[in-house]
Amino acid sequence: MCTILRPCYTAPGFLVLKRLARQLPAPLYLALYRVYRKLTSSPPPQGGLIQSRGPLETDVAPRLATIPGWFHLDDIAHFSLILGTQLANGVRGDLLEIGCYFGRSAALLAMYLQPNEHLYLVDVFDLPNDEPYVPPTVAVVRENVYRAVPTLARDALTLIRGDSREATLPANVELRFVHIDGGHAAETVYSDLMLCTPHLIVGGIVAVDDYAHPALPGVALGVQRFLDETDSYETLADLNRAGAAGRILYLWRSK
Ligand SMILES: C[S@@+](CC[C@H](N)C(=O)[O-])C[C@H]1O[C@@H](n2cnc3c(N)ncnc32)[C@H](O)[C@@H]1O
Repeated sequence: MCTILRPCYTAPGFLVLKRLARQLPAPLYLALYRVYRKLTSSPPPQGGLIQSRGPLETDVAPRLATIPGWFHLDDIAHFSLILGTQLANGVRGDLLEIGCYFGRSAALLAMYLQPNEHLYLVDVFDLPNDEPYVPPTVAVVRENVYRAVPTLARDALTLIRGDSREATLPANVELRFVHIDGGHAAETVYSDLMLCTPHLIVGGIVAVDDYAHPALPGVALGVQRFLDETDSYETLADLNRAGAAGRILYLWRSK
């Protein structure tokens, strides 16, 4: 309606009407003015609030929330985007997490595991450690992951109990995604990257947790040392997460 009316507002006839309207008694003039404003104002913006809560919030997050950990909604969204994009593009391979704690982020990885793929979790668990956590046990983590993902094949999960700096992976492992979230010292992060890189397929992704965390400078130092020694990786993303001081750096293996 506005586009039809607007041209006549500047027409000489309209200006005369406007001048005459000013002679009217105030209440009548105001009523007319309100009608005029309504006709000339822009239409209200279309769209509206984000009200619908999608499956990541209504299904995935509640299943993971029963497991202790630091993996939050932003992480769920970012990991889901990457793992889902890999699947949509036919990228297949095993998944690895270094530092699984009670298995929260591991359970998210398990949700994206495909037939013939394998999920490896490396953690010191209850062994003595430089960075003591409330120690999860292998049995508890296994139970947590299968409770969150009951469809996961019984032989699709391997838990490796030990310091990641001394860990080895079976020679046939071909990784499409790695989450490094274990020790935070520069030497440990560098060593974790060195552990996974011979097994990472071209196009595979390494997510380094707690990157640039102000209290954990070793993470960025370890990553920098690794990147200084290789030209096989590019930064895919460097993402903030609500409520977390550190970011997650996503490295993409380009060759
Ligand atoms: C921040 S927590 C992992 C949280 C988990 N990824 C999550 O989001 O639920 C760090 C874990 O790394 C493990 N860890 C620390 N240093 C390690 C090392 N050198 N080797 C293996 N695991 C280590 C700890 O036992 C702990 O379970």
